[in-house]
Amino acid sequence: MISYKDLGLVNTREMFKKAIEGGYAIPAFNFNNMEQMQAIISACVECSSPVILQVSSGARKYANQTLLRYMAQGAVEYAKELGKNIPIVLHLDHGNSFELCKSCIDMGFSSVMIDGSHLPYDENVALTKQVVDYAHQFDVTVEGELGVLAGVEDEVSSEVAHYTRPEEVIDFVSKTGVDSLAISIGTSHGANKFKPEQCTRNADGILVPPPLRFDILAEIEKQIPGFPIVLHGSSSVPQEYVKIINTHGGALKDAVGIPEEELRKAAKSAVCKINIDSDGRLAMTAMVRKVFVDNPAEFDPRKYLGPARDELKKLYMHKCENVLGSAGTVE
Ligand code: G3H
Ligand code: 13P
Ligand code: ZN
Repeated sequence: MISYKDLGLVNTREMFKKAIEGGYAIPAFNFNNMEQMQAIISACVECSSPVILQVSSGARKYANQTLLRYMAQGAVEYAKELGKNIPIVLHLDHGNSFELCKSCIDMGFSSVMIDGSHLPYDENVALTKQVVDYAHQFDVTVEGELGVLAGVEDEVSSEVAHYTRPEEVIDFVSKTGVDSLAISIGTSHGANKFKPEQCTRNADGILVPPPLRFDILAEIEKQIPGFPIVLHGSSSVPQEYVKIINTHGGALKDAVGIPEEELRKAAKSAVCKINIDSDGRLAMTAMVRKVFVDNPAEFDPRKYLGPARDELKKLYMHKCENVLGSAGTVE
């Protein structure tokens, strides 16, 4: 059993309290490799933002869970070396079983998500409570989910979204004891968040998505005032990256995300954690494709992963400074 406290990590409790009081959201960036970790940490140190390093079960399979844990431990030291001891959480994204959550807690994660959102309500409550009861013995915080996002959530995919039912949230939060709640108000995972027929097109032919259901968010906030809310599927799918990808041999069709203004608005509410993965994937892919097309003789991985990492850092700083508002909140 390794305690996250010995690794220099923190749980989400204090972080979320400050974020709600301060009207901003903490970035939760997914990572699978060293370059992503470096970009996340150097961006958040440079703009003085707390950060949640997020690991999916796919990431655990890809990178090896032990290596990822040591990388998170390294991230704490790296931040100090860069000059700022920012609060860093190591969080399991979309845990789908008690055993997976327990294994992460036992190996040094400071926060876990148990995603029982696809289960019948009572089973979601029971599973989430089981994880909370275990996690809280070690002061590890737990995120639960009510409502289903459309699209792919790790290995679970859903064609249709089911918005969170505000009338269920008090019961869910009190029965399970969760520390935060992920909700469904119209976001979804991946780079194609909406079908073209759900969108309108602006004068440039760019897809404009339907607005998020801020009415449902407001109703949830009314039921559980001040309780930490989480938004998954919050990439904005920057069209400049889509364009670079498609003009350098890629084929991304109808890629559309959540407009930044909507996320800015959400961050000012009880939404205190915003999950972003796809935008980072797009930034890296755009840069790697560009290097390959512009310089076909290049074969040193540092020459394409380096520019990808630089772009990623820029993107993450932009998110903290201009979208989530978390920049400048660490002294
Ligand atoms: O929620 C999904 C995250 O973007 C993680 O994606 O399961 O492909 O690692 P992944
Ligand atoms: P995006 O696919 O919109 O980046 O969402 C990521 C996410 O919710 C991770 O849990
Ligand atoms: Zn998610």
